[in-house]
Amino acid sequence: MDLSKRTVLIVGGTSGIGRELARRFAAAGSTVVVGGRNRKTLAELAGENFGTVGVDITDSASVASARDAVLAEYPELDTVVTMPGIMLLEDLRDPAHFEAARTTIDTNLTGTIRVIDAFTPHLIRRGAGTFVTVTSGIAFLPFPPMPTYAASKAAVHAYSEALRAQLDGTGVGVVELVPPAVAVAGQEKVNPHALPLDGFATEVMQLLSEEPTPHEILVKQVLMHRWAERDGTYDELVAQRAQALAMLPGRQG
Ligand SMILES: NC(=O)c1ccc[n+]([C@@H]2O[C@H](COP(=O)([O-])OP(=O)(O)OC[C@H]3O[C@@H](n4cnc5c(N)ncnc54)[C@H](OP(=O)(O)O)[C@@H]3O)[C@@H](O)[C@H]2O)c1
Repeated sequence: MDLSKRTVLIVGGTSGIGRELARRFAAAGSTVVVGGRNRKTLAELAGENFGTVGVDITDSASVASARDAVLAEYPELDTVVTMPGIMLLEDLRDPAHFEAARTTIDTNLTGTIRVIDAFTPHLIRRGAGTFVTVTSGIAFLPFPPMPTYAASKAAVHAYSEALRAQLDGTGVGVVELVPPAVAVAGQEKVNPHALPLDGFATEVMQLLSEEPTPHEILVKQVLMHRWAERDGTYDELVAQRAQALAMLPGRQG
């Protein structure tokens, strides 16, 4: 896709990967609107000439009013990125994990669906546009300490595939961004293997600019996760990652 003349809404663009991609799209020449709940950050971004909109994707009314506000100001909107995602540790031996599971699904999966539903009629009416959904290497290679996170991202992957098939012929495409571990907000301290945000964003923008746009945006570091099952390394890698279960508070000591 031509990154220089899009009108892009990045829901979940107030921090981390979303914020960096907002900057990259703007630097490439596109008009960028950032959505999120954090009013203070939205005000800062408005000061940097981004469009901004307050939105909580767990609340359908909030999503509908954000959609109305964005389309009133940016009727040419052609790209919607569903970036929000929360990652929570869960110990499945303790039924108290259920609240974390419910919250994770409501944000990562149902929230993604809410945002897509809100903008689908607009993009179909335009006859051209792109949804960018966001999954994770963990969608393809589970990380056992975060079971519902993995399930939610595998679900968004499957949903993205079905959405692409259903929108075929409308001019609206679906691109799935599949990040590996990326060093946002101090995460490099937790995971020394996390990819620096800057290099990750450069690779993502390069892949997005390919014609035709790939269905999946796979930076080099995520290929091992994405293709583990095909490559026959899946069982060994899941077992290796299960060692991280020791980080669960209930499994220590
Ligand atoms: N970083 C990684 O290593 C990594 C790896 C694989 C996949 N991913 C995925 O990439 C995406 C971004 O991750 P990140 O690490 O950049 O996370 P982050 O820094 O925590 O950013 C999450 C963004 O989502 C927004 N958000 C969260 N809940 C929301 C809600 N209910 N309504 C509206 N916005 C909400 C936050 O904005 P507000 O707080 O302003 O609402 C924030 O802008 C996520 O989907 C994550 O699962 C990340």
